[in-house]
Amino acid sequence: MSLKYRINAPVSVGQFLHVLHQSGLSNRRPVNDLHAINGMLRNSNLVVTAWDQNELVGIARSMTDFHYACYLSDLAVSQDYQGQSVGFNLQVLTQQQLGEHCKLVLLSAPDANDYYPKLGYQPHDKCWVLPRTEVLSKRAYSSAMS
Ligand SMILES: CC(C)(COP(=O)(O)OP(=O)(O)OC[C@H]1O[C@@H](n2cnc3c(N)ncnc32)[C@H](O)[C@@H]1OP(=O)(O)O)[C@@H](O)C(=O)NCCC(=O)NCCS
Repeated sequence: MSLKYRINAPVSVGQFLHVLHQSGLSNRRPVNDLHAINGMLRNSNLVVTAWDQNELVGIARSMTDFHYACYLSDLAVSQDYQGQSVGFNLQVLTQQQLGEHCKLVLLSAPDANDYYPKLGYQPHDKCWVLPRTEVLSKRAYSSAMS
């Protein structure tokens, strides 16, 4: 199997949806909201892709400043191509685009939680997420501090 890897090659909404569905990541991404899917693609500034001819079979989609932090938001490899180092290669190529002090940060899907330690990622017990349903509140801050 000879795949081609590309950095920041154009990816259509349809191609992105295809790899999300084929990988299984679709059940954790807003695949029914095309506006969101389009926005996710257009507003990423580092997208590494794997192609079998014209078929998108793997993607690592990140937002980064290239110097301090790179948030790897989606890593997906189509099922038929999994277990062949495609995910690994996508991450190596992602890291190669970053400055020498830039760290990779991600939130693992539950099924992939055992994957990242194998590659050298370290868990972080001080990671915080504010769900969109939560409103920032100083009251919560005051009660947390008291
Ligand atoms: C997780 C994923 C990106 C890995 O990509 P991949 O190309 O299959 O993985 P690689 O071939 O680079 O890595 C293979 C190694 O990781 C292991 N691995 C792959 N997926 C794993 C998982 N979900 N949990 C634990 N280990 C996993 C393989 O067993 C293999 O280990 P080995 O080398 O000791 O045999 C891919 O399986 C995928 O798209 N899964 C569904 C979507 C998903 O969960 N994405 C992550 C979102 S955070």
